[in-house]
Amino acid sequence: MEEVVRPSAFDRALRSLHGWVWRDPHRRARKLLRFAETEADGGRDLSRAAELTRDPLLRRLYLRHAQDELRHAALFRDRGRALLRALPRSGKAFEANWLAPGERGLDDLSVADERDDSLLAFLHLSEKAAAQRFALYRQLLAHDPATRDVFDEVLQDEAFHMSYTKAQLARVADRGSGARLWRARLGRLWKAYLRAAAALASVLGTLLLRLQYFLILPIFALLARRAAKRERLGFQAARRPSASRSQY
Ligand SMILES: [Fe+2]
Ligand SMILES: [Fe+2]
Repeated sequence: MEEVVRPSAFDRALRSLHGWVWRDPHRRARKLLRFAETEADGGRDLSRAAELTRDPLLRRLYLRHAQDELRHAALFRDRGRALLRALPRSGKAFEANWLAPGERGLDDLSVADERDDSLLAFLHLSEKAAAQRFALYRQLLAHDPATRDVFDEVLQDEAFHMSYTKAQLARVADRGSGARLWRARLGRLWKAYLRAAAALASVLGTLLLRLQYFLILPIFALLARRAAKRERLGFQAARRPSASRSQY
């Protein structure tokens, strides 16, 4: 399988970081469960794509693809659960989803708004990215042969998804598949930017709230305590009523 799909240069450069993500068994189990969710999501989107396309060959391929993704979801779920059962209970582990997101499938794409060629271009890039990532995870999981076997099996289907989407794109694209692939690449880049911006906003928001809590709130607590010291103890006479008789 390694000769057919190789990890991307970018993921190879981050190999030690990915190794760290997959080393912790709790995080590994949670990531597999998360992958199961994204695979099942992809399967549902592909079933919808099969309903919508007017091309009979694409319909058959999308249905086979949807079945593959649902099977991947079951494989990841079963392995994730088996890992969790064998481990002592623990709190939520940091999952590093921005670094190892699994197969994104059709992501936030609205299947009903896409044409066959744009959908195939997006699918091809997404399957290729997933196959390259899974090829790396497979290499990193030598210490967990059962999980590595799951990636081995999934990777064979991902290689097929990657190649059939490219072949079908070349068949259905009116003006060549190159332009379609570039538009899909830009779309993915834009989504990656939005994800990074949202993650950064979340980190900055948390940081600002903590700063307010630890730096600004104590000042008000101090002022309130000083004001409380000036208050006299016990019952006090009510304030004298105001001299004015009207609200004006
Ligand atoms: Fe998959
Ligand atoms: Fe796939």
